Amino acid sequence: MPDSNSAIRPVRKAVFPVAGLGTRFLPASKSVPKEMLTVVDMPVIQYAVNEAREAGIEHFVFVTGRNKAVIEDHFDLQPELLETLASRNKTEMLEMLARQQPEAGRTSFTRQQAPLGLGHAVWCARDIIGDEPFALLLPDMVMKAPANGTGCLASMMDVYNQTGGNIIAAEQCDSAQVSSYGIVAPGDRAAGGFEIKGMVEKPNPEDAPSNLMINGRYILQPEIFTLLENQATGAGGEIQLTDAMLRLLDAQSFFGYDFKGKTFDCGSKEGFISANVHFALDNEEIGPMVRQLLTSALAQ
Ligand code: UTP
Repeated sequence: MPDSNSAIRPVRKAVFPVAGLGTRFLPASKSVPKEMLTVVDMPVIQYAVNEAREAGIEHFVFVTGRNKAVIEDHFDLQPELLETLASRNKTEMLEMLARQQPEAGRTSFTRQQAPLGLGHAVWCARDIIGDEPFALLLPDMVMKAPANGTGCLASMMDVYNQTGGNIIAAEQCDSAQVSSYGIVAPGDRAAGGFEIKGMVEKPNPEDAPSNLMINGRYILQPEIFTLLENQATGAGGEIQLTDAMLRLLDAQSFFGYDFKGKTFDCGSKEGFISANVHFALDNEEIGPMVRQLLTSALAQ
């Protein structure tokens, strides 16, 4: 298998796997995809799409499943709504919607058919991605950019443009959390990040090689698809992306990018509530009022 470092090819497409069942959000996720739940006023999926667009992504590939059709509708135009807003002179709202609207022909939707795991969901995008590197964003991981304001994927692109290969964003987590995420084994420092020597999916805290969790953002070379094709099931009886990446690590380089912002795991109730509190406090319009509400709620 070739190491794609020799020629650094541009990353134009991003994959968003949204076919999971979201069982941690039942009953809310029974008919509403968890990716459509809102953090303040924007569905979780829109945060990831905005982050990808900021990083220069041109084509957005959604791997969906049954009950997820509303995600496709969300990224479509709504002429009646736009006409009504225009007739009411709601210019700011129209501009906001236009900023978030993918251009015609820049989205693709494919079905995973059965939720066999993240690795399988990524593999389902193989024909649409073709033979080029791609970004992968797990939409339920919502990110607050660090102080410099640059999103996680945009910073990963900077690392990728120096190193090539495969890039994984990683973030420090508490020891108690390592068994919930993929964890990387860091090696030497490299341009803008560090080499990755190994990774393990959901380890016991005593077996974890570090407390650097994979926070849901990746840049991967297309050779991952060949490995996913025959990837055996792993942790939780699912086809795990981490297992296929480990095999790719034998042939290609992987670099870690230490994300200095904050990731909210909106696939869990705690992360979802936490994201809502943080984003609401940061919101210009409602932030001061939410601060007051929280203070008075805590005083009761
Ligand atoms: P999660 O494991 O967080 O999602 O997958 P889940 O399985 O829907 O959640 P729970 O545990 O039942 O509550 C991370 C991302 O990968 C997608 C999910 O939609 C989510 O965005 N995914 C997961 C798939 O697309 N297909 C799968 O088979 C599994």
